[in-house]
Amino acid sequence: MSAAPSLPDLTGSTYVVTGANSGIGLEAAKKLAGAGGKVVLAVRDVEKGEAAAAQIPGETAVRRLDLADLASVHAFADAWDEPITTLVNNAGIMMVAEGRTVDGFERQIGTNHLGHFALTNLLLPHVTDRVVSVSSGLHNGPQVDLDNLDLEGAYKPTRAYQQSKLANLLFTAELQRRLAEAGSTLTAHAAHPGYSATNLQTHHANPLMNKLMWVGNKVIATSAEFGARPTVHAVVADLPPNSYIGPTGFQGLRGAPGPNPRSKQARDADVARRLWDLSEQRTAVSWGL
Ligand SMILES: NC(=O)c1ccc[n+]([C@@H]2O[C@H](COP(=O)([O-])OP(=O)(O)OC[C@H]3O[C@@H](n4cnc5c(N)ncnc54)[C@H](OP(=O)(O)O)[C@@H]3O)[C@@H](O)[C@H]2O)c1
Repeated sequence: MSAAPSLPDLTGSTYVVTGANSGIGLEAAKKLAGAGGKVVLAVRDVEKGEAAAAQIPGETAVRRLDLADLASVHAFADAWDEPITTLVNNAGIMMVAEGRTVDGFERQIGTNHLGHFALTNLLLPHVTDRVVSVSSGLHNGPQVDLDNLDLEGAYKPTRAYQQSKLANLLFTAELQRRLAEAGSTLTAHAAHPGYSATNLQTHHANPLMNKLMWVGNKVIATSAEFGARPTVHAVVADLPPNSYIGPTGFQGLRGAPGPNPRSKQARDADVARRLWDLSEQRTAVSWGL
């Protein structure tokens, strides 16, 4: 594997990284803090967050954030009072058994999209540079179901994950459109890691799939350090608005980070607007600027 790209001096910058206690979030946090940035680990389990922070060189802080509970998202944002250079919407769950967040949303769309939607809008007045959201190559699938976002009566673990990761890209596009319309200099970008061995692949609804993915993690997957490179590139590089960064080599799984293609569904500006409106209704959180 090629060497990790070197980073500019990030002294004076502050990064909020959701789910920074594990996998790609942890590796991204190490890189950003290692280059001099202050990293705030926004985690649902503070003890795990403290253990992760102990492995990170540089300045860190740990704050509790449960994206599957809007009260927790509000509490995090209400307590926030300093500039954020970049918000990194990284936390996620994948292909879990059907379930609901505290607020009654299907768990994958609730955690991966709606929680980050609310967090971003609530924190946006503090953000000074950009918002980066971590999507997935698996976003490439059917369009989000705007009439049945919770996939009530139609739940399939893979469909729900794909929908939530497509929502991350539609959210990024509409966020960028709104920022530009408001005359803001902030930008919105997305990233994906390819396929990296992390804890993500251990919670599948079907235990057999966990075994298969365990093999995949050993045989095909890259490391979490490799998977964090596109995220960090999206955080620090000079990019056109609404960039989508991933590995540029073999099938978006290997190689240096750079622009990656997104599906036709992810480029549908009308659906992006309607998903935004629906997300405002569902979370009762509105445009942050
Ligand atoms: N690994 C891959 O191959 C891959 C591929 C494509 C996209 N991605 C994306 O990369 C991102 C990071 O995943 P990963 O691979 O690093 O997986 P990971 O090691 O399982 O990390 C996921 C992180 O999200 C946190 N999280 C889960 N639910 C949360 C909630 N309700 N509130 C706050 N934090 C929560 C987890 O916290 P706990 O430790 O407490 O569970 C953990 O810190 C995800 O968005 C995922 O969809 C990963």
